[in-house]
Amino acid sequence: MQVLQGKIIFITGAASGIGAETARQLADRGAIPIITGRNEMKLKDTAASLKGAFGCYKLDVRDQDEVSNVIARAAYDFGRIDVLLNNAGYGLFEAFEDAPLEHFADMMDTNYMGIVRCTKMVLPIMRHQGGGHIVNVASMAGKLSTAKASGYAATKHAVLGLTNALRTELKPLGIAVSAVNPGPIDTPFLHAADPEGNYAKNVRSYMLKPDKVAEAIVRVIERQTPEVDLPWSAGIGIRLYSMAPRLADKVAGRFLNRK
Ligand code: NAI
Repeated sequence: MQVLQGKIIFITGAASGIGAETARQLADRGAIPIITGRNEMKLKDTAASLKGAFGCYKLDVRDQDEVSNVIARAAYDFGRIDVLLNNAGYGLFEAFEDAPLEHFADMMDTNYMGIVRCTKMVLPIMRHQGGGHIVNVASMAGKLSTAKASGYAATKHAVLGLTNALRTELKPLGIAVSAVNPGPIDTPFLHAADPEGNYAKNVRSYMLKPDKVAEAIVRVIERQTPEVDLPWSAGIGIRLYSMAPRLADKVAGRFLNRK
């Protein structure tokens, strides 16, 4: 679609997984991805796979100074930021009783505060240029919490709460705000979340491929869709669950607790 031609798209966590794949698909469609991440070696690999112009900066979304400097630098180098894709994040699947406090705090610092930091820095730039689009990668875990995901699910619930409030608040400024909520995806995320691989094994039959999730994110950017659940059937399941949680627990409890 022509709409992406020349668009400057700032992506966090683009060294791997759906951040890297989305950068590639955006570049193929004529957009200019600005890829950022913590691991410079892996970022270089992503950069080597991109067609056409791109930007590349080291960025840890937990580091307030780095966020301020890198976003200011990117806006200076490229003249504007049309889209902010808040994608950086990770999860640890562990029982609440076993999880140390630092795990809860660090996941929140990355997955939620990382988005707050980047959005705060990008907002004046988008306001000044008269519009923009902020896309937050949340998760199905932001709508439905399951066992062994208390810390992670809370961060994604926070991301959706933030996203929904910002969508209303920023509309008058011409800034669209979207959420993308995938179910399990076959990326390095799962190796960190569940090193033993039990969860990946249990959900293998309905695990999403990163290229399909990236395609959906590209469509969200093109159409400024407010929210997308992936797969869409899981979105319907979640709506049914919230209408009758006790019944749903009885019927689908075993299916939902796969970690
Ligand atoms: P991934 O692990 O390949 O990508 C996440 C990227 O974020 C990595 O490159 C990682 O280094 C980066 N990152 C982590 N902490 C960071 C920090 N402090 N600063 C900058 N970058 C940081 O995994 P994936 O699946 O591509 O994850 C992308 C997003 O999708 C995450 O927000 C994740 O929570 C979300 N998600 C993933 C699902 C899955 O099953 N893989 C399911 C639903 C949502």
